[in-house]
Amino acid sequence: MSGLKILGAGYSVPDKVLTNQDLEHMVDTNDEWIVTRTGIRERRIAEKENTSVLGFRAAQWAMQDAGITKEQIGAIIVATSTPDDFQPSTACRIHQLMEFDQNQAVMAFDINVACTGFPYALAIANGLLATAMPDRHILVIGAEVMSKFVDYTDRNTCVLFGDGAGAVVVCRDTEREFYSYLSAKGDDEAFRIPGAPFAGQEEPSLIRMDGRSIFKFAVSTIPVCVGNVLEQAGLSTHDISYIVTHQANQRIITAAAKKMDLPIEKFFMNIEKYGNTSAASIPIALTEMKRQGLLRRGDRLVMVGFGSGLTLGAVLLEW
Ligand code: UT7
Repeated sequence: MSGLKILGAGYSVPDKVLTNQDLEHMVDTNDEWIVTRTGIRERRIAEKENTSVLGFRAAQWAMQDAGITKEQIGAIIVATSTPDDFQPSTACRIHQLMEFDQNQAVMAFDINVACTGFPYALAIANGLLATAMPDRHILVIGAEVMSKFVDYTDRNTCVLFGDGAGAVVVCRDTEREFYSYLSAKGDDEAFRIPGAPFAGQEEPSLIRMDGRSIFKFAVSTIPVCVGNVLEQAGLSTHDISYIVTHQANQRIITAAAKKMDLPIEKFFMNIEKYGNTSAASIPIALTEMKRQGLLRRGDRLVMVGFGSGLTLGAVLLEW
């Protein structure tokens, strides 16, 4: 029997705020267009903090919130598509920053599932807790420095992204429900950050995106993902307190809510402050919900991701 409990949550964002007004001086855009088309008013931009540093800080807050010490950690899973380096992994860098005793066994690895990373990582954690480490705690982190890959001459993309990290501490709890639906479809055109080129070839590692196709994919994907986990659980949307989707665009969430015939209040949103922080957006949202006192014991949440890959996925869990 599997099942997990989120013991604590935390997030960390860089201090530097990039507002829509700032962007008006950088590209041909305006606050009104950005707010009405995306819901974003500002985003955070890392000046010195790399992905691992943001992830480490978020993890510290999550552990403090959970009331656990590092000796209780058995694994660090980092969902990121903007690691500090290809190797070592961001999880290993966070491991280093945490200064574990060398005799303590702590798995550390990254997963790259773009904006769907957090639901995937939670499902992997659930599997590890059910099998390899039932008595340990796992740090599940979503961390990104998207700004390193943003083309600040491209108005189609530069207004969307921000940097940050969110983390949760989870442990096994067979009394709590956990369901997941995770999938991928091959499509390398909709959203791409090119990797290192072969010698003699040049392609800058900057975000390339077909915004409209991602928008359509997201709006059709959210109801599919939510419907799938609800069906597995034998529940309906009435049994769910909140749906926490990846924060990509307020209009995506509004359109999905309409498609599902659900009140928008069922969907938590904080995109206006942080923009699209990719794999970090769901754990940042979750932390804010917790701090705002929105979550009570027994509440059922569905977290939904969608993004490059294309990837899609949802988890249903009990708070
Ligand atoms: O996490 C996954 C990553 N990606 C996403 O989530 C992106 C999903 N897609 C979206 O959020 C939306 O498609 C966008 C926000 C990217 C674009 O909104 P849209 O309503 O689909 O606009 P559009 O691409 O159809 O463009 C409409 C117009 C175009 O001008 P013309 O051709 O009608 O003259 C664009 O050039 O808006 C123009 N435009 C802008 N104007 C002012 C595009 N970006 C901007 C901008 N400021 N920043």
